[in-house]
Amino acid sequence: METPAVDHVRIFDTTLRDGEQAPGCTMTLEEKLEVARQLARLNVDIIEAGFPAASPGDWAAVHEIAREVGTPNGPIIAALARANRDDIEKAWSAIQPAAKKRIHTFMSTSDIHLEHQFRKTREEALVIIREMVSFARSLCDDVEFSPMDAGRSDPLFLRQAVAVAIEAGATTLNIPDTVGYLTPDEYGAMIRDLYENVPGIKQCILSTHCHDDLGVAVANSLAGVRNGARQVECTINGIGERAGNASLEEVVMAIHTRGQFYGVRTQINTREIARTSRLVSSFIGVPVPPNKAIVGANAFAHESGIHQDGVLKHRQTYEIMSAETVGLDGSELVLGKHSGRHAFRTKLNAMGIELESEEEFQHLFERFKDLCDRKKRVDERDILALVTGELQHAPEIYRLEHVQYNSGLGMIPTATVRLIGPEGQVYVDSDTGTGPVDAIYRAINRVVQRPSELIEFSINAITEGLDAVAEVTVRIREQGAPDTEGARVDLGASTSTTTVLTGKRATQQIFSGYGVHTDTIVAAAQAYMAALNKMLAARQERIKAEAVAYAAGYGTD
Ligand code: KIV
Ligand code: ZN
Repeated sequence: METPAVDHVRIFDTTLRDGEQAPGCTMTLEEKLEVARQLARLNVDIIEAGFPAASPGDWAAVHEIAREVGTPNGPIIAALARANRDDIEKAWSAIQPAAKKRIHTFMSTSDIHLEHQFRKTREEALVIIREMVSFARSLCDDVEFSPMDAGRSDPLFLRQAVAVAIEAGATTLNIPDTVGYLTPDEYGAMIRDLYENVPGIKQCILSTHCHDDLGVAVANSLAGVRNGARQVECTINGIGERAGNASLEEVVMAIHTRGQFYGVRTQINTREIARTSRLVSSFIGVPVPPNKAIVGANAFAHESGIHQDGVLKHRQTYEIMSAETVGLDGSELVLGKHSGRHAFRTKLNAMGIELESEEEFQHLFERFKDLCDRKKRVDERDILALVTGELQHAPEIYRLEHVQYNSGLGMIPTATVRLIGPEGQVYVDSDTGTGPVDAIYRAINRVVQRPSELIEFSINAITEGLDAVAEVTVRIREQGAPDTEGARVDLGASTSTTTVLTGKRATQQIFSGYGVHTDTIVAAAQAYMAALNKMLAARQERIKAEAVAYAAGYGTD
């Protein structure tokens, strides 16, 4: 068992599990892989890659992340499993390729969950915990146990449940405030109580897992750290069930900025924070609010005269941390229209951006040159946006080759598009609309013939100035599609060995797309194409993932 370093707080990222589980936050396998690569650059200690028993697609994603990102110097790859043999076996098989593996299993301990959801007595719950943690431990040396709804559990029973899990071999004890009910004082006291009263706990890692229903998930996590926790479970941008989880960037920067107060450190490469946040936001199609701490567009902007005056005289008058620390320096790129490939490649390297292939580089370089033609000053924020757009991995079933629009006061907005189809067919179509974006989307729909409902559309200027690059994020829902495909796998259901799984996870049928361009309308067209392509590819991908998962042993029990 690992000897815990007293001041090292492990960062357990659950963006790909608790985060991705939130409605509309579904990512494709390629996107999950990209996020996992970025989390490795961020240097998180543990990536919870998913919940393999949820569906063959989830299993395949965890397996792929374990294979590619779970290198000996990389993070521990964890997979979630309910406390039953089938889930635990699926979690174990999915993380096989990782050098460092962890099984994370959980069972509710609150009376309200036991009585109404699981229909189990406390004694039965203890038996399940003992049996399933020791089963997980018979497979894997690194086992995490979570007493779900710990925040509303009877404190004495919670002690008992945690003690049983430790006896059965758990090495990390994660204490979830599943419904985000506790205050920081209460959450801290709960962690302190366990830390001081459960036999063997000091040889294990105590972990926090806080939801944000009352807006105190980060405060609760930090209170946990103050009281003995040495692992924090969190997500990028705080995404997750309902109001979300504790936000990774806020927890990390609180510890970074107030290190002396907390007396601990993390090993996060904070300069990767902004990029990670942008990547996740563009993949799930949920923009980061401008006033969001650490990663919001205004987090480092000083608007009032008195603040600006102070900052110009001495930065620290109004700044407790620098934008550079989180990778938001926006330092000007000394490249322009006449710069060559070499200079561009060097800049990408300096920004820590690794591309997968020469083709990807070439494509990005062309986009960069195109941008230099339109924009005088290209800075790192623009480059990051370009890279994020390119890394969407929206399979290009239809490619937008040409878009043209006419709009203005007293005119009927009209658009013409040329799309290249899956087999190279050329489609040209036009339509009118309430505005240029509507006209373009209608023209595209005439070609693609898979109508969708636009449920979200947001525009953001990446930098200042009239020539700023616009980023557009859209979310669409396939029209006429059922709300779910198979029942959503309930984290609370079935904790006995007789698991009933539908074998399919609900898809919310929401697809996001991201576009970047100096022409906002073109960015809107790109974003829509990306979302549409994802929608069209979703079915294909599900079938492929199922084949991969079954071929690799999913469900062979
Ligand atoms: O919030 C929660 O209780 C969870 C558990 C599965 C750890 O996400
Ligand atoms: Zn949770």
